[in-house]
Amino acid sequence: MYLRHLQVEDFRSWKHADLALEPGATVLVGLNGRGKTNLLEAVGYLATLGSHRVATDAPLIRHGCDRAIVRAAVVNGDRELTVELEINAGRANRARVNRGQPGPPRSVLGILRTVLFAPEDLALVKGDPAERRRFLDDLLVQRAPRYAGVRADYDKALRQRNALLKTAGKRGRSGRDDPYALSTLDVWDGQLAEAGAQLLAGRLDLVADLTPHAAAAYSGVAGSAAVGREASLTYRSSLGDALPEGYGVPDGKRAEEGVAELRDVLLSALQRARDTDLERGVSTVGPHRDELDLRLGESPARGYASHGESWSFALALRLGSYELLRDDAGDPVLMLDDVFAELDRDRRARLAEVAADAEQVLVTAAVDEDVPSELTGTRYRVSEGNVSRET
Ligand SMILES: Nc1ncnc2c1ncn2[C@@H]1O[C@H](COP(=O)(O)OP(=O)(O)O)[C@@H](O)[C@H]1O
Ligand SMILES: [Mg+2]
Repeated sequence: MYLRHLQVEDFRSWKHADLALEPGATVLVGLNGRGKTNLLEAVGYLATLGSHRVATDAPLIRHGCDRAIVRAAVVNGDRELTVELEINAGRANRARVNRGQPGPPRSVLGILRTVLFAPEDLALVKGDPAERRRFLDDLLVQRAPRYAGVRADYDKALRQRNALLKTAGKRGRSGRDDPYALSTLDVWDGQLAEAGAQLLAGRLDLVADLTPHAAAAYSGVAGSAAVGREASLTYRSSLGDALPEGYGVPDGKRAEEGVAELRDVLLSALQRARDTDLERGVSTVGPHRDELDLRLGESPARGYASHGESWSFALALRLGSYELLRDDAGDPVLMLDDVFAELDRDRRARLAEVAADAEQVLVTAAVDEDVPSELTGTRYRVSEGNVSRET
């Protein structure tokens, strides 16, 4: 798929920007702070309903404005769809497809699929488990948009369970033995297990499917440095040994078919953890406590990998995602934000090779010299509040 057109209004630093795009490489060149990343962020938002830089929408709206608009024409095979998102301050966001009736933002999920590799991705390897959970969940939603609903249900049940744990826990013995609190807790346990099992199953199958792609991408990117230090991914559940074996590994059991089993296991784990949870006022088991372990050979990447290896691993996770999405339903749009300057010559050449083969790749760089020569294509100059096509 590719973007044929991108328009933003009052998005980040942009009052207005309008870009005609084509398949192949498009390079945005401009000094730092001119709004290049903002444009890729807008594209990413259409695909994931989130930003790779901030957790809330407020910073995406231009200072002093009350809404931002992102609009794009997405071509997939012989079909073209126009998607539009209105990001509103203080009220619900809205989406429109083909200029139809406004609907909930989630209605655009699945239309545009993107993979963005950006400097922030170093946190995938070096950062907290939350970064890797988010990586998995974002990819899961891009593969199967229904997971956006599963994730929202899970977060809601978790918030409610935690709130109840806090209030009941604070009342000491009497709170812990209060039949009303306990029966309400049963209700949240049930809902948490229901949504949690689906989320867990989705992640386990995703890790099983992603692992070979990410491992191959790592060897490709790291070259001879990867010999004897292969990249591997392992989903580590907070269920520990209670998690049935055989899920989450390539050629293993499909967790999506085992959701009922996972729900039962999760429910008993929640019940076993209840006393501890009441004492601490938080839920100590569930997908919100899980981790994606990244290893190079025998050692964990986090805390052991060098800077270059960490970069290669982060890149491999993104390129692996790209290959996975491509296998599912054709080329997603690839975006490379200011990353060539960070890579050494060999890694740069390997990334350029993959990028040159993508149906569409959007690249940003501060100066022309940072862009490998393989990526010739349309060039845009980005200056203060202005983006213009080079002829
Ligand atoms: N909500 C906003 N309103 C106005 N300007 C913003 C907003 N968010 C970010 N900016 C500005 O956008 C610029 C950064 O844009 P960015 O796309 O990251 O630049 P780069 O070209 O280096 O990638 C900064 O000058 C920042 O002040
Ligand atoms: Mg930038």
